[in-house]
Amino acid sequence: MSDSAAWNARYGATPGMFGWAPNEFLTAQAHRLRPGMQALALGDGEGRNGVWLARQGLEVTALDWSATGMAHAAELAAREGVALTTVVADATAWDWPEAAFDLVAWIFVHLPPEDRTKACAGVRRALKPGGLLVLECFSPAQEGRRSGGPREAALLWTRAIVEAEFPAFAVLALLEGAVRLDEGPKHQGLAEVVRAVLRAP
Ligand SMILES: C[S@@+](CC[C@H](N)C(=O)[O-])C[C@H]1O[C@@H](n2cnc3c(N)ncnc32)[C@H](O)[C@@H]1O
Repeated sequence: MSDSAAWNARYGATPGMFGWAPNEFLTAQAHRLRPGMQALALGDGEGRNGVWLARQGLEVTALDWSATGMAHAAELAAREGVALTTVVADATAWDWPEAAFDLVAWIFVHLPPEDRTKACAGVRRALKPGGLLVLECFSPAQEGRRSGGPREAALLWTRAIVEAEFPAFAVLALLEGAVRLDEGPKHQGLAEVVRAVLRAP
């Protein structure tokens, strides 16, 4: 089973597995958003974050390699009465557009190191000058906790990885530490994360 097939099976078995409400760290950035901004919700799963961005008046592309997730995202957008462009694609092989987005939301997308580096290169290419990256991912201290995240240690994020992948970006926020998650059945309780808001040069 490919990993996209595994995610299809997960979303098919447990719709709303990360909840339908948006990620709290993303919503805390509402003051940085303006209607009409072009946004990419990367690895958007079932669309909770892309749809929230669309509700703020942004023009949103949601990308995920799970066709089931993107189908749920399209249904959520229809229920909420907002436009959402869904793309079923592997982020490591996508033909990333150049200087196309004012915002990339990278929420709990954990990739093997080589794939992560490819996707980060895509983000650097796709952000307009001055565009924002908002990222939340689990950190190594999450290992052994039951509040979510991948089993493979290599997929976890650190502040140092953020700094290494986006060296020319201005750091508006960059934290590694404990937060309490309340996001559907799979993200519940105390969790160890990296949170970043970066501005492209
Ligand atoms: C933990 S889920 C988070 C989903 C969503 N961002 C959220 O917060 O609700 C990780 C998502 O990343 C997607 N994903 C993982 N690797 C990917 C890849 N190489 N290309 C596209 N999507 C990928 C999965 O299909 C899954 O939907």
